[in-house]
Amino acid sequence: MPLESGDSIESLLQESRSFPPSASFSADANIKSEEEYQQLWNRAKDDPAGFWGDMAENLDWFRKWDNVLEGDMPDTKWFQGGKINASYNCLDRHLENWRKNKAAIIWEGEPGDRRVLRYQDLHREVCKFSNVLKRLGVETGDRVTLYMPMIPELAIAMLACARIGAVHSIIFGGFSADAIADRNNDAQAKLVVTADAGWRRGKELPLKAAVDASLEKAPSVEKVVVVRRTGYDVDMVPDRDYWYHEMMEDASADCDPVELDSEHPLFILYTSGSTGKPKGVLHTTAGYLLGTTMTSKWVFDLKEDDTYWCTADIGWITGHSYICYGPLSNGATTVMYEGAPNWPDEGRFWEIVERYQVNIFYTAPTAIRAFIKWGDQWPQKYDLSSLRLLGTVGEPINPEAWMWYHRTIGQERCPIVDTWWQTETGGIMISPLPGITATKPGSCARPLPGVVADIVSGDGTSLGPNQGGLLVMRQPWPHMLRTLYGDHDRFVRTYFSTIEGASLAGDGARRDEDGFIWVMGRVDDVINVSGHRLSTMEVESSLVAHAAVAEAAVVGFPHERKGEGICCFVTLKRGDGDESLKQELIQHVRRQIGALAQPDQIRFAPSLPKTRSGKIMRRLLRDIAAGRESTQDTTTLEDLSVLARLRADDE
Ligand code: PRX
Repeated sequence: MPLESGDSIESLLQESRSFPPSASFSADANIKSEEEYQQLWNRAKDDPAGFWGDMAENLDWFRKWDNVLEGDMPDTKWFQGGKINASYNCLDRHLENWRKNKAAIIWEGEPGDRRVLRYQDLHREVCKFSNVLKRLGVETGDRVTLYMPMIPELAIAMLACARIGAVHSIIFGGFSADAIADRNNDAQAKLVVTADAGWRRGKELPLKAAVDASLEKAPSVEKVVVVRRTGYDVDMVPDRDYWYHEMMEDASADCDPVELDSEHPLFILYTSGSTGKPKGVLHTTAGYLLGTTMTSKWVFDLKEDDTYWCTADIGWITGHSYICYGPLSNGATTVMYEGAPNWPDEGRFWEIVERYQVNIFYTAPTAIRAFIKWGDQWPQKYDLSSLRLLGTVGEPINPEAWMWYHRTIGQERCPIVDTWWQTETGGIMISPLPGITATKPGSCARPLPGVVADIVSGDGTSLGPNQGGLLVMRQPWPHMLRTLYGDHDRFVRTYFSTIEGASLAGDGARRDEDGFIWVMGRVDDVINVSGHRLSTMEVESSLVAHAAVAEAAVVGFPHERKGEGICCFVTLKRGDGDESLKQELIQHVRRQIGALAQPDQIRFAPSLPKTRSGKIMRRLLRDIAAGRESTQDTTTLEDLSVLARLRADDE
């Protein structure tokens, strides 16, 4: 339990600036007035079934539902009796009108190669790859892992899975072989789609080799499909490994979408939890698609002629929901870029904005901090006048970074939507609505229609204005996760056992006197590195797996660029440790989990601060890692001298 009964979290940040949208933006916006928002929000709260039933008319159904909502949290079922297909909604329905020739995906590779796939093209490729999957034995309900670079084939493979009702599990290309094996085992994946390698800052990142190494430990995988991206040399195992381009050559472009139940699983996406192995967050077809479709319309204010760019990787939830499903279901044009923002130089993103005349730009605070560091000369070199709306996601944005984004990128013209949501929520939950909200730098504003958010103390009491507490959701929404794959008990325990009748986000937050929400970060043992959740527990397990390590405690600390850095306190089995062991441990974690989890600091400690019951007191270590004096209660500490020793070590 993150908060003791009755506790609240102290909140120190005060911010009084406010930025209303221009009259012309509001006049054209999808949600135009405060009254309209209030009306939608109240209707959704009082009559969720009626509200979401009406919204569901925005999707195409093979058969309409009998019941909008059955059950209550934790076990809800949406649109029971309905038959639907996500790939049909993202593709086929746009072929019936002029959109068939509209750009669905504008893609740019890191080396500068470019492709535009019109809706018709994307549909054809998806149908062909659906047939390839079927030919390789994939059936409705089977799990397919995608471990790929940011190339169109990734979107094609996702939509092909959705078309035949296979469940995709995308693993971010930065994860290591062990991490792939764990996820494949958990999902019992049957087939993996990968590439020879991907480009990253001009270097080839081998992907097939990592898959090969993972397969030794993941026997459920029978087949591997390999996209040739960079030409990197790979081993192809006969009757197991197949080249994408060879399989596609003679695949038919006819493939009817499978008429799936509303609650048919669409995908699993692994995310970090505070304890144990990664959590396989499971989303289902109709509710997820409805949530991403509506939130894209409301928050990004999508218009038919917009060019929209979300810079996330599809390997994270942001890419699933807001590069692929949300925009494509709306028939929008979505930009996809393969590589790094600073390749070949720090102007790359702005060059892309100028080239494609991007109107809506969605990125993460960690990227914004990097842009600030690289200097204003980069965005100033390019014409950014096409931009009309900016967004951020992934972690709290510091008000000064927000102001920089507003001035330098938005040129004081573009509303900023600071969107709060999670892998578990499937889509945006709390965000400004760009046509109506007077935004405040650092606040994600108010809950969207259908989201009944509250801030509560440890015993579930709703807190008043400016009191910090736990962020919870009091009402179910269609795009919420349905379970943790293979572990429904953990799902119930993690999200629904802390606060009666509500689902727990795991974030601390406060609401100001205008009802605006200010998220203060995680309250569990999860650190947010560059906008990505990492479990301290996973890094600890990796360290302890090293022969020299007896015990490890991992905490986050403020890091200028990454938001949070990873600090590891390590107790060795013997000896004091030296620089070369530090480097070895850093590389060890990197190999085991991936580059994202590479520790920033290793500190050897003869012992760790523990409670009398033996629990490591991470909150004390957090203060030490941040270099601040601790004001925390140390009365439960077993051995006070431990702290003094750790601090002395710091000097
Ligand atoms: O702590 C919150 C932070 O990111 C967490 C969710 O991480 P993940 O599931 O990886 O999804 C990230 C992309 C949706 C949240 O619990 N977070 C996300 N967006 C914001 C945020 N914190 C503050 N402000 C945000 N806009």
